[in-house]
Amino acid sequence: MISAVIMAGGKGERFWPKSRKKQPKQLLKLTNDDKTMIQLTVDRIEKLVDSNNIFIATVEDYAHPINSQLPQVPKQNILVEPMGKNTAACIGLAAVHIAKKDPDAVMLVLPSDHLIKNNEKFIDVLKTAKEVAEQGENLVTIGIRPQYPETGYGYINFEEKIDSINGNDVLKVNRFVEKPDKETAKKYLESGKYLWNSGMFAWKVSTILKCMEMYMPELYKGLMKIKEAIGTDKEEEVLCSEYSKFESISIDYGIMEKAESIFVIPGDFGWDDVGSWTSLERINNPDKEGNVVKGDNVITLDTKKCIIEGSNKLIATIGVEDLVIVDTDDATLICSKEKSQQVKNLLKKIKIMK
Ligand code: GDD
Ligand code: MG
Repeated sequence: MISAVIMAGGKGERFWPKSRKKQPKQLLKLTNDDKTMIQLTVDRIEKLVDSNNIFIATVEDYAHPINSQLPQVPKQNILVEPMGKNTAACIGLAAVHIAKKDPDAVMLVLPSDHLIKNNEKFIDVLKTAKEVAEQGENLVTIGIRPQYPETGYGYINFEEKIDSINGNDVLKVNRFVEKPDKETAKKYLESGKYLWNSGMFAWKVSTILKCMEMYMPELYKGLMKIKEAIGTDKEEEVLCSEYSKFESISIDYGIMEKAESIFVIPGDFGWDDVGSWTSLERINNPDKEGNVVKGDNVITLDTKKCIIEGSNKLIATIGVEDLVIVDTDDATLICSKEKSQQVKNLLKKIKIMK
């Protein structure tokens, strides 16, 4: 069986004020399609995985909107974590649920908030990833050719090509480094020997659980108790008590930096992780002044290279450049494009003020 786990518990804070506590990035429509990020993700993967085998891992706050946005995914496949404990725990939880159905299943792990331009190529790369995952106790990741020294990504130091399946190269991984500092990222970029980690993985559920047993034994022990309780009247209680003990750590730090037998398939399918407001310039075509404008209520004069998104009020601009302007019913953001990554820091301040 091939299954997919879509991780959908993140907060997407850098898209404030449009993304909110109850409405994170994955539940928003950020492109000109009339679909939310998570709907686009499920549409994409349904070409390879039957919707009965698509699982969504999320937290309580988002379970209801996810359920209504994704009527094709069975309700019991929406796995609700009692609290967000980052990606290692959510992947572990999904792995035990899938293992109950089929212990030999291959599991594709996908973020819920990325965009992909070429779906056919994407599915083709995933098919190769699945084949490599099936061949042994392999951890397979999809790599993206890096374009600039991004510090918010994982970097994959690849070695020789060991195979080519359906025209996709399969490379052995020497080392996986999560979120290096700027200097290191620059070195990696210049070396030509690194790929970005797209945050998409393939492995057998038995493989990832074995890795958790080896590198994250506390998590593994808790997961085994949760597995035991699935379908019993103790399920909720055990899930809550075990989850509260889990360390909050990503799969990248918890497993990928430590494990052996990692392979990477380079993917060239127009990937974008839509990390902040400025990514909208890459995914929506700017107009002839270089502006990306969403909504009918925007009037600009002598305005260049701005990202403007309105709601009910009219937004009017004169003589401004390189700004992000986002208006919602109760909050307005005006920010220089250069500083748009700092929205996260601003949020800390907003919380303090409250
Ligand atoms: N269910 C659940 N629970 N989902 C979560 C949780 C959680 O506690 N935390 C994060 N997620 C989801 C997010 O919604 C997102 O879809 C995905 O897991 C990845 O989490 P991010 O928080 O967005 O990770 P990141 O962007 O910092 O880093 C990852 O992605 C990069 C590429 O975009 C890493 O895998 C990097 O190595 C990678 O380069
Ligand atoms: Mg991310």
